[in-house]
Amino acid sequence: MADTDLSKIMKQEVGKAAADRVKSNSIVGLGTGSTTAFAIQFIGERLQRGELKNIQGIPTSFQAEVLSKQYGIPLTTLDAVDHIDVAIDGADEVDPNKNLIKGGGAAHTREKVVDSLADQFIVVVDSGKLVDKLGSTFLLPVEVIPMAMTPVMRKLTQLGGKPELRMGVKKAGPVVTDQGNLVIDVKFDEIPNPESLEKEINNIPGVLENGLFVGVADVVLVGEVKADQASV
Ligand code: 5RP
Repeated sequence: MADTDLSKIMKQEVGKAAADRVKSNSIVGLGTGSTTAFAIQFIGERLQRGELKNIQGIPTSFQAEVLSKQYGIPLTTLDAVDHIDVAIDGADEVDPNKNLIKGGGAAHTREKVVDSLADQFIVVVDSGKLVDKLGSTFLLPVEVIPMAMTPVMRKLTQLGGKPELRMGVKKAGPVVTDQGNLVIDVKFDEIPNPESLEKEINNIPGVLENGLFVGVADVVLVGEVKADQASV
């Protein structure tokens, strides 16, 4: 079986496992990315089968909103509710303390709002996302307002990072977030203290949010390959 097929099966399995944890009469944060897309699909299918009733979803991106509508999940907004029961979202890296790097899909700002409000935040990843230390495989995404791009990059360099502007498909132009901002991806050789780096970066004028999620995740569901098939 090709690696990409395995990765897809792992994502499907964890997506389904997370969707199975959603209960009727709940408000659900709906994350962004290819793994959460399966969770959204399975929640929609459970609703259609009548297994789940009275779900209100809060999408973390335009992508999640479109998918949720496609699968028939009723949506609401943070203005209309006073809590979120559970959020399901992917991650780019997960360390042993359940701290995360997110933002591979440039959606980490809204994701952090929704995921951190949830009574329970379930992370769905395949086993390739598990790392001993954050920053070892993935660059740290930082959302920045466009006019502040250059000074923010300078400051990120002073903090020991190597920043680069995220470019879109075929490098035709920069990636633009749902908020109309830019994403700077930063390589840090090491992130010894994710909690202080998260705050330090967010203190730079012009930064909207960075992809370090420290102390936000409650449960991490990991898709693993066993023999020639994936399991959670
Ligand atoms: C988007 C994210 C995603 O959750 C993260 O990139 C993981 O995506 P995928 O499940 O496709 O690997 O943080 O901003």
